[in-house]
Amino acid sequence: MTDPYRLVPTAPPLDDYLRLRTDSGLSPRNAGQGAGAITGSWSFCHVVDAVGRPVAMGRTIGDGGWYFHIADIATDPAHQRRGLGRQVVTWLLDDIRSRAPEGAYVTLIGDPPGQRLYRSLGLDDVAPSLGMALVL
Ligand SMILES: CC(C)(COP(=O)(O)OP(=O)(O)OC[C@H]1O[C@@H](n2cnc3c(N)ncnc32)[C@H](O)[C@@H]1OP(=O)(O)O)[C@@H](O)C(=O)NCCC(=O)NCCS
Repeated sequence: MTDPYRLVPTAPPLDDYLRLRTDSGLSPRNAGQGAGAITGSWSFCHVVDAVGRPVAMGRTIGDGGWYFHIADIATDPAHQRRGLGRQVVTWLLDDIRSRAPEGAYVTLIGDPPGQRLYRSLGLDDVAPSLGMALVL
C-alpha cells in the first residue's frame, strides 16, 4: 500500500498552522503570532495527507550557530499514532545535524504527550536545571 502521507520541508500555510495548534490541544495563537512563527523559524516542516491537507508539523527556532529550540510539534488528532510525530521530529533533528555546525545544543519543552517520543530520539531532561517560561 502506498504511504498516504508526504513530508514537506517548509512551513504549512498560516491557517493550517493555527488550526493544527488548536486542534491538537496546544494553546491557540493569533494570526500575528503565527506569521512570526512561519517567517522567523530556522527550519520548518509539515506532513500532508493524501489530499494535500496539512496534518502534522514541527519547527526549529535557531541562531544558526549552536542553539536550536524545537517547537510546535503537533499532529491532527485524527492522524495521531501513525508515526507522523516521529517523522517530523526526526526530520527536524536530521536537518540540524546536516546544516548546523558541530556541537549544536537542541532544546524543547516536552509536554506529556510527546515525552516518550522525544526520549526515544535521544532528548533527555535537563535536571538539575529546570525549564522555565514567562508569558508577557
Ligand atoms: C505528541 C504528538 C505530536 C505525537 O504525534 P503522533 O503523530 O501521534 O506521534 P507518533 O505516531 O510518531 O507517536 C505517538 C505514539 O504512537 C505510536 N505509534 C506510531 N505508529 C503507530 C501505529 N502505526 N500504530 C499504533 N501506534 C503507533 C508510537 O509508538 C507512539 O507511542 P508512545 O507515545 O506510546 O511512545 C501528538 O500526540 C500531539 O499532537 N499531541 C498534542 C500536542 C502536543 O502535546 N504536542 C507536543 C508538544 S511538546
